[in-house]
Amino acid sequence: MSNSRFPGFNKLSLAERRATLGAERHLDANMLADLEDGGLEQATADAMVENCLGLYALPFGVALNLTINGRDRLAPMVVEEPSVIAAASNAAKMIRAGGGFSASLDEPLMTTQIELREVRDEASARAAISSHKSALLELANRALPGLVGRGGGARELEIRSIGPSHLVVHLLVDCLDAMGANLVNTAAEAVGPELARLAQADLGLCILSNLCDRRVVRVSASVPVDELVGALPDTTGPRVAAAIAAASLFAERDPYRAVTHNKGIMNGVDAVVLATGNDFRAVEAGAHAYAARAGTYAPLATWRLDGQRLSGSLEMPLGLGTVGGTLRVHRGARLALALADIQSATDLAQLAAAVGLASNLAALRALSTEGISRGHMGLHARSVARAAGASAAELELVACRLRQTGTVTLAAAEAALAELRQSEPTPKTP
Ligand code: MEV
Repeated sequence: MSNSRFPGFNKLSLAERRATLGAERHLDANMLADLEDGGLEQATADAMVENCLGLYALPFGVALNLTINGRDRLAPMVVEEPSVIAAASNAAKMIRAGGGFSASLDEPLMTTQIELREVRDEASARAAISSHKSALLELANRALPGLVGRGGGARELEIRSIGPSHLVVHLLVDCLDAMGANLVNTAAEAVGPELARLAQADLGLCILSNLCDRRVVRVSASVPVDELVGALPDTTGPRVAAAIAAASLFAERDPYRAVTHNKGIMNGVDAVVLATGNDFRAVEAGAHAYAARAGTYAPLATWRLDGQRLSGSLEMPLGLGTVGGTLRVHRGARLALALADIQSATDLAQLAAAVGLASNLAALRALSTEGISRGHMGLHARSVARAAGASAAELELVACRLRQTGTVTLAAAEAALAELRQSEPTPKTP
């Protein structure tokens, strides 16, 4: 993938957008056509969950302008909120002017927990487990022949005391390109009985932890302040940059604000996670636990003004997979990986985190300049026009009217549509 810049992309028709990216990424035309049905058949959905009734669709879009570690990237996103993809693309353009995102990820180590209850003697339990560490790791690896064959497997054991006579053993497993939930649960169940025997304890739960803090992604970006200039008077680049740094400080000092700040980050992260068939509940749970790791809920990303540059960094756990799970059956998720040219789970985590940081910058910039409502409402106007019954040909005319009046409500859209139809005959949908 050599290019993520497509000026005027949002002005193209849906079919033209698909054709443009299909050609750029050398994708089979059928692959993009998969988005017609959301990339999932009824029969497959029926096999995926109990009591299935059908499918539930969401928009699939793409964020543009990203450059990560010197490489241009497209970010597939599935999200219902109108401004999210536009905002991420816009912020990525500003970040690009500063050299783009730098990203890195720890090894893909997933943590799985084996709980030991009623431990007879903690010191001897610790000693017995530690002296059998190699045998325990081997036991775990025997339960993971496929993963071990590909170069992954159990790497480390850690023992934690969480209460009187109550230990937890963490087994760290290199899951390579898998999210790893099933793998590490299997490994935990394989070593659990032996751990309980060695520790002379009762075996409790054997299950992964979604606080995958050994699989942390770090992304940073630095934006020349003049890129941040707003449309309103008094929104010069340096002023907006200072306001964004002040907004970061607000989140650093107040958990109520930090939650909303992080919600803005998760707008981007979750949309990529969802598009690529990953488990967004696991990501959400891990992200918020990580945000609270110091005992107070804190922002996952912060911004500082340093002379003529605004620098931001984001750090969060991100256990994503590019093999197995939903990807086996969901054509839409496979298309998302192909579109983004994802090479590995590490690559995907870096992309999702970069989109998270871009979303955060866009939100803070909007809040520091025109406020969030104007931009939101501007984009929301199209879906309200649609809800009022506007045809494809009428949509932009009605949305434009709503933006002009500043009242983006269903009633206003219905009135604007009636007025439009009275003034001219219904335009034919192309
Ligand atoms: C809305 O989806 C997200 C924001 O509330 C994030 C923020 O306040 O930083 C705009």
